[in-house]
Amino acid sequence: MSFTQTLVEDHGAVRRITLNRPDKLNALNREAIAELMRAFDDAAADARVRAVVLTGAGPKAFVAGADIGEMNTLGPVAGREFSLHGQRLMTRIERLGKPVIAMINGFALGGGFELAMACHLRIAADTAKIGQPEIGLGLIPGFGATQRLQRLCGRAAALELCLLGANIDAARAQQLGLVTRVVPAAELDAETMKLAAQLAAAAPLALRGTLDAVLIGGEMPLDAALDYESQQFALLFSTDDMKEGTSAFLARGKAEFHGR
Ligand code: COA
Repeated sequence: MSFTQTLVEDHGAVRRITLNRPDKLNALNREAIAELMRAFDDAAADARVRAVVLTGAGPKAFVAGADIGEMNTLGPVAGREFSLHGQRLMTRIERLGKPVIAMINGFALGGGFELAMACHLRIAADTAKIGQPEIGLGLIPGFGATQRLQRLCGRAAALELCLLGANIDAARAQQLGLVTRVVPAAELDAETMKLAAQLAAAAPLALRGTLDAVLIGGEMPLDAALDYESQQFALLFSTDDMKEGTSAFLARGKAEFHGR
């Protein structure tokens, strides 16, 4: 698969996808969004891939937002298309069915943090800066932040971030529950890949069940969501991996999961 703005590499069962526009702080233009969509489609379809790491190239930025130069030229119809294009990518990542880690190595602003919020775990360098600065552009977030932010950190913090548009540092983002872990910048890569390797060794169908129960069940009324959880739980009793995991525990051995 050929890309101009995206790098894709495999480290064992971990696929690493890097947005590669460092001269523009990895800003998301339409082409970059389309490439990421293809890269994630490919990761979903490839059974060898069991976890994904998403990051941005260069020392400064994860992704500094949607491409402001491109947005500057749009009218309302194209603006809506741009928003839907971005939202489709975020939903694709969120519903990948495999765990995705955002490795936040610098600025994660606007569409950049929306991209990180679509991932399932967010690990940030202690130097990272996070925010929704769209208000300063006369805009609101258009790739999902008005909804995902309040689900992650509550309505008060979501409103503060979007109304004031100020960046926060990684420690504050962790306090708000927006990032899972903060590590020294020099250790970010190794820590993220360690976490990804741990996920890649876990039972893929149980990971999938967890993602579905939390993400799909989380949008249902409680009774229906609990019933859905039970169904996901029951389904796993049909898998070799469940027999492997429980038998290995009883034999005090180490389970090897194969996604069956
Ligand atoms: N869209 C398009 N280009 C962007 C961009 C974006 N969101 N963010 C950064 N860039 C470009 C800059 O225009 C500059 O390009 P140039 O060298 O061709 O002029 C390059 O990336 C480097 O950015 P620069 O602003 O010079 O770096 P800095 O270290 O001074 O500032 C930021 C870094 C992140 C504070 C600043 O780039 C910024 O505020 N970016 C926009 C953030 C934003 O509003 N995002 C939300 C968009 S919805």
